[in-house]
Amino acid sequence: MTRADSQTRSRAPGRQDWSTWPHYNAAAAGFRGYWYPVTWSSHVTGKPTGIRLCGDAIVLVRDRGTVHALHDRCPHRGVPLSLGRREFPGTLSCAYHGWTFDLADGDLVAAITDGPRSPICGKARVATYPVAERLGMVWVYVPIAGEDAPPIDEQLPEELVGTPFVMGGRIDDRTGNWRFACENGYDEGHAKYLHRTSLWRLFKAMPTWNVTRIEQRGRWIYRRQLEQYWEADFPGLGRWTNKRWWKLSPPAAKDGAASNIGNTGAAKKVDPVIAAQDFPGFASVSMPGVLRIAYPGFIHYEFYVPVDADHHRYVGVMVNFLEGAATARFYLKYLGWIRWLFHGQFSGQDAWMVDVTDAPPEKLYRPDVSLTAWRGLAEKDYTAKLAAVENPAAPKNKDA
Ligand code: FES
Ligand SMILES: [Fe+2]
Repeated sequence: MTRADSQTRSRAPGRQDWSTWPHYNAAAAGFRGYWYPVTWSSHVTGKPTGIRLCGDAIVLVRDRGTVHALHDRCPHRGVPLSLGRREFPGTLSCAYHGWTFDLADGDLVAAITDGPRSPICGKARVATYPVAERLGMVWVYVPIAGEDAPPIDEQLPEELVGTPFVMGGRIDDRTGNWRFACENGYDEGHAKYLHRTSLWRLFKAMPTWNVTRIEQRGRWIYRRQLEQYWEADFPGLGRWTNKRWWKLSPPAAKDGAASNIGNTGAAKKVDPVIAAQDFPGFASVSMPGVLRIAYPGFIHYEFYVPVDADHHRYVGVMVNFLEGAATARFYLKYLGWIRWLFHGQFSGQDAWMVDVTDAPPEKLYRPDVSLTAWRGLAEKDYTAKLAAVENPAAPKNKDA
């Protein structure tokens, strides 16, 4: 490359679009074909509630213990069914003229204001969505083309299926596209700088910079920290570090030696369940936007749930693999401070950035390999999913 070439390059505005990842680029309102957590189980009662997911309006209602999800639009005149009520067991009646739908299959079973022999019955229906309850939340599957939902356990983080744990969490409605939220979650560069002022990190120094490699294992990609630098001299500018006298010093290690459990240095003790996972890196992400951060004593998850192109729901969950009396200590700790400092103020810094991110165009730098790897994973996983939906008999691509 000539000098002139390299100058032109460095002046180039960067990526003008996301055409490298066409499915990802098109998924502004979310990827259909996945399960999403939408609200706490305790919030879904016999009174219908309207939500929005992947751009779809959905009504949730609990009937005799089971949660049902239907398209939140009456086919008669388009009134939201979430304004209606359950007149008969197993049904939901529209608030306007009393069209009454079977909660299980969405069929119109009565039109109250046209009498018991109304000929419209059986001639209209609303779409229903598969529903599951896990982690104290209601999960809804958004189909691509009316396909059956795969078992939700195949999509949950593996360590949360069949292992006892306690959890605390927070669900917030936020502005900004879900992809910015997910990219922010897995973003290699920002935590060290943006979060240096957070109360959650008040007593713990963060590295100045890392050398990172992305590794895939199964359906997750991991950020493996190869080198970790706590301070750095910037030629002609000076030294920059996040170390302060009041912050715990990172454990003594050779300069550059990295920890891959938590991002504030190596730990003396690691929870046996977490240790047994043998995660290649402390931050990992999988479709359809699930972030997992492994710390020595707990795992933090973030689910970025697409509401529509400009809004997402942030679901932050902290899990401890505890049973019995120890769980009381967890709840005290979680409600006492973790919920406010970590899921509140710390995560609020992310919400702030996600709201103001505006890309593409963008000009990426070395740590952004985390972003391009995630987009690549999404593209590959979704391509395989589309093929499976179009041709359900074909063998599944294990690696996707
Ligand atoms: S609009 Fe729903 S019954 Fe008329
Ligand atoms: Fe962050």
